[in-house]
Amino acid sequence: MIKQISHLGIAVKNLEEAREFYHSVFRLESSDPIIGGDGTIKVSMVKVGNVLIELLQPFGSEGIMAKFLEKRGEGFHHICYEVDDINAEVASLKASGIEVLGEPRPGAEGTSVFLHPRGTHGVLVELVEKE
Ligand code: CO
Repeated sequence: MIKQISHLGIAVKNLEEAREFYHSVFRLESSDPIIGGDGTIKVSMVKVGNVLIELLQPFGSEGIMAKFLEKRGEGFHHICYEVDDINAEVASLKASGIEVLGEPRPGAEGTSVFLHPRGTHGVLVELVEKE
């Protein structure tokens, strides 16, 4: 069961410039950047009430975020929903024919998995089960 929106992922070219923008324009603070995922993404979280904005910058010239920026430019990348039981969610989605990308694996916020935009009306969806 989906409980709430956990975060929204936004692709940016330059994380420091984006953090400075969120700070000076929106008066929102962001976390210190970390290298995430498979080591090709630099990430900083901006807290907005109960929802986070995940700022994503490619780290190096390879990887999914570098490809995304090259193809689509800066902007909305994915929505992440918090679920109570990720394995049950994945099983039920697969049974409905939804394309699940790989298996759930540990990440910054908990165990997460992505759903291909082909099966979700054009939106890359991440599901996370928090610890
Ligand atoms: Co995410």
